[in-house]
Amino acid sequence: MFKRFRYRRVDEETRMRYKETFLYKKDLILPVFIVNGTNTKREITSLPDVFHYSLDRLVPDLKELILKGLKSILVFGVTERKGIEQAFSNDGIIQKSIPVIKRHFPELEVITDVCLCSYTEDGHCHVGDNDATCEILAKIALSHATAGADIVAPSDMMDGRVHYIKSELLRHGLLKTGIMSYAAKFASSFYGPFREAANCTPKSGNRKTYQMDYSNSSEAIEEVMADIEEGADEIMIKPALAYLDIIQRVRKTIDKPIVAYNVSGEYNMIIQAIRSGYANEDIIHETVLAMKRAGADRIVSYFTPCLLEELSHG
Ligand code: PBG
Repeated sequence: MFKRFRYRRVDEETRMRYKETFLYKKDLILPVFIVNGTNTKREITSLPDVFHYSLDRLVPDLKELILKGLKSILVFGVTERKGIEQAFSNDGIIQKSIPVIKRHFPELEVITDVCLCSYTEDGHCHVGDNDATCEILAKIALSHATAGADIVAPSDMMDGRVHYIKSELLRHGLLKTGIMSYAAKFASSFYGPFREAANCTPKSGNRKTYQMDYSNSSEAIEEVMADIEEGADEIMIKPALAYLDIIQRVRKTIDKPIVAYNVSGEYNMIIQAIRSGYANEDIIHETVLAMKRAGADRIVSYFTPCLLEELSHG
């Protein structure tokens, strides 16, 4: 006697009845890179089909994606000129963009990246001292929240930054702004293409003194629990593909929403596989779905536009 499974796989209709995991359009978060100026839509060399947008060119493209089911974006401000004041100034790219985006698309969830690496001279995510950096990060988060961000997402990996940000938001009565913390962010070689896109490659050294050592899994749980205690509402794990075990382990530990960041190097690797002809486009769905199967609720992905085309479920 042996077990028979193949009856579940005889045709598409039958396979559909036995599917355990689905990817929905609402699970997807699109990263968006905004630059100063007007009339700019420039493909990012390291990220095919991903663009640097000036606000005027972003709005029509967002409209199209929203019609296809886009629900959330994660915004990054990219400047040529360095200087950390731009990160929290009222005329910073993000601070000027959010009200315009919200006026056009009130229902779109706007999440903002809170970090210094696009603004520091040396391309690092801090100004030297940990706690002094946290104070600046809290100012950045406050400026984003005041401009209308629904969620702020600190990606710097300083100790205590969620505590600083939460206190600053509460002090200003911003009770509805959520915090999505990059709780377990590993020092990874998968960020290479992004650093070109966000103009934030460290001038010297690497990020190993603040981002996590990729050998560690129990420490990821400590990081996650610390951020939740400090007031994080959603937990990010990053990168995703080489860290599915971390997603699964965190899923077993917490009940808060878990976000996986399908990062630039993962995107680039899969695009190259498709372009070389060695993989078909279904590899996109296969890899992004794996993040959900591992336990993520939401996925930040540069593949969002192609997945919105393909997915039939809201
Ligand atoms: C900045 C930041 C990085 C990413 C998101 N925010 C780069 C880094 O930490 O070096 C990477 C995203 C990606 O690779 O897609 N702190």
